Amino acid sequence: MRIRHHKILRTLLLFAFAFACVVFAGHVEPVLGNTDGVTSIFRPLSQPAQEIKETSFLVLAICAVIFVVVAGLLVYALVRFRHRAGDEASEPPQVYGSNQIELAWTVLPILIVFVLILVTTRTIADIQNRKAPSTAVQATVVGHQWWWEIRYPELGIVTANELHVPASDGRGSQPTFLKLQSADVAHSFWVPQLAGKTDVIPNRENLMWIEPTKPGTYLGNCAEYCGTQHARMLLRVVVHPPDEFERWAKEQQQSASADSSAPEGRKVFFANSCVNCHTISGTSAQGKFGPDLTHLMSRAVLASGAAPNTTDNLRLWIRDPQKIKLGCLMPNMQLTDEEVNQVVAYLQTLK
Ligand code: CUA
Repeated sequence: MRIRHHKILRTLLLFAFAFACVVFAGHVEPVLGNTDGVTSIFRPLSQPAQEIKETSFLVLAICAVIFVVVAGLLVYALVRFRHRAGDEASEPPQVYGSNQIELAWTVLPILIVFVLILVTTRTIADIQNRKAPSTAVQATVVGHQWWWEIRYPELGIVTANELHVPASDGRGSQPTFLKLQSADVAHSFWVPQLAGKTDVIPNRENLMWIEPTKPGTYLGNCAEYCGTQHARMLLRVVVHPPDEFERWAKEQQQSASADSSAPEGRKVFFANSCVNCHTISGTSAQGKFGPDLTHLMSRAVLASGAAPNTTDNLRLWIRDPQKIKLGCLMPNMQLTDEEVNQVVAYLQTLK
């Protein structure tokens, strides 16, 4: 008897623990105490993430009620009808064919499922049917192994790994509509605080939109396994107040700076095959395979978030990219220390 009670208690505790994990896991932050790196879906700061959260909470609430009712009945039955000393070993009375009970457990779940379908469909339709207003910013995001190419065809801007968008403030709605394409394998575009995941599939164009209201930097990542460095295919969305966004766009539209303070580095860069993969606008470097470097120094990170964009990291990256991102497709150009320093000096003119 005693042993059986212990077992029931242990099972109940395990259940409670698992439930608590499920409920609270979403609130665990990547770096404890550091609110900058939060990527929680429970703190949406944009449509459609907001609407998705509301739908999820409604679904969770309905499921929680069902869980409590079912688990409660189960616990009640376990306790109320447990084996007692002196019980006969005979079978309890068997109940067959109760129309009321059968109707109840058929009709009620159908109604619940119907409500869930309607709620979900309404959310999906709201998000998918949204038409781009004339004020919308249009961007194309291309997934590559393992970085993000970002183009603004109407603004004539090409950049990488940082999607800059305006905030929709009190003055009006200015959402950003994204076309998602892949240059190689399947990826998935996910910035948890802004929107749900959207797959990025070769030979197909998927569409999505975001409309953040609060300026700031939002972290995201590739959410579909795409090879060795899938985990370091990170993404930042920088949300600017509208006038600041216009300033950013003006700067990005400029050709590369004609700063001639690093002539040796420039020479090394153009004498090597760097130019086959990278574009620097206004120069003969027009490669399309790797990220556009025209305004490299305006970006906060290197190699799609693998390292902060500092002089030391830039040096390490050019000397041996595999040291920062094992498996990445940028080759080691076998430059000497002196050449590496020269190239770094040149790249740092690309503001
Ligand atoms: Cu791209 Cu995972």
